[in-house]
Amino acid sequence: MPQHSFAERYGPWALVAGASEGVGRAFAETLASRGLNVVLLARRRSALDEVSSAIESRHGVRTRIVALDLATADAATRIAAEVSDLEIGFFVYCAGADSNFKPFLSSPLEVAEAMVHRNCTVLMQLSHHLCGPMVQRGRGATVIFGSGAGFAGTGKMVAYCATKAFDMVFAEALWCELKPKGVDVLGLILGETDTPALRRLRYERGLARSLDEPVKGAETPQDVVNDAIAHLEKGPIRLANKTMRWGLRFLYPFSRNFVVGLMSKASEKIMGKD
Ligand SMILES: NC(=O)c1ccc[n+]([C@@H]2O[C@H](COP(=O)([O-])OP(=O)(O)OC[C@H]3O[C@@H](n4cnc5c(N)ncnc54)[C@H](OP(=O)(O)O)[C@@H]3O)[C@@H](O)[C@H]2O)c1
Repeated sequence: MPQHSFAERYGPWALVAGASEGVGRAFAETLASRGLNVVLLARRRSALDEVSSAIESRHGVRTRIVALDLATADAATRIAAEVSDLEIGFFVYCAGADSNFKPFLSSPLEVAEAMVHRNCTVLMQLSHHLCGPMVQRGRGATVIFGSGAGFAGTGKMVAYCATKAFDMVFAEALWCELKPKGVDVLGLILGETDTPALRRLRYERGLARSLDEPVKGAETPQDVVNDAIAHLEKGPIRLANKTMRWGLRFLYPFSRNFVVGLMSKASEKIMGKD
């Protein structure tokens, strides 16, 4: 799609939640390179300042910084107020990794509750708030980050796995409703991706000698973003990792996208078509 039609279809503003580093930062830069202004959201204002300067000088678009913690109770209300004067046509919900990696019962319940709030509740609140106007305009896009951990539960990631299953199914179901109305929805399912957050976790666990050590075999943030943009219009799910695409074929003989189609047909049969 030519750059001007990309901006016409998905602009004039994007909001990227988790834009201070890694895949979210690469997403913000890529959308700016295609002519979108970008709201940059994360907790660390200083990191966002640096991303903002880089994007504005390289791509000549505008940015706005929203520095807050998505795990706080009123996060969605505050974000809505901060962007109330902007027309947002592209919404990316990237923030969502688990930096804890500890058994469920070894941490206070509040840790899991914060994960559910950030990864599920605030995502849902912002999708409700931002997708309504997109549907009215008949154009726009929402990209929701999932993980291979959303396909099956495993220890030390109890709440994380469950939230990522939620994110994937939420994206699929939202796609069923919004795609016919002109709004693209993509559940972007990541496997191992070489982000600063993953490097920090690996370093803390003694799996890397320094934070500069690349994660061998992992996708790069830019690869993941390019893959997302290439599959944006198709949806609902894109597995953004070669190993995962290969491995899941054996575990799940039908692709998620095929199963979403079957599910929609079954639901129409049982509940009737509108
Ligand atoms: N990396 C992987 O191997 C991998 C694998 C599977 C899935 N994923 C998914 O990919 C996405 C990105 O992962 P990542 O590895 O880049 O780590 P991440 O910890 O999700 O960090 C991404 C961004 O989110 C921001 N963020 C994190 N928590 C936040 C909060 N409570 N409030 C506001 N902003 C917050 C971070 O900035 P601040 O620290 O400045 O807030 C950063 O800019 C996640 O959804 C994750 O589940 C990653």
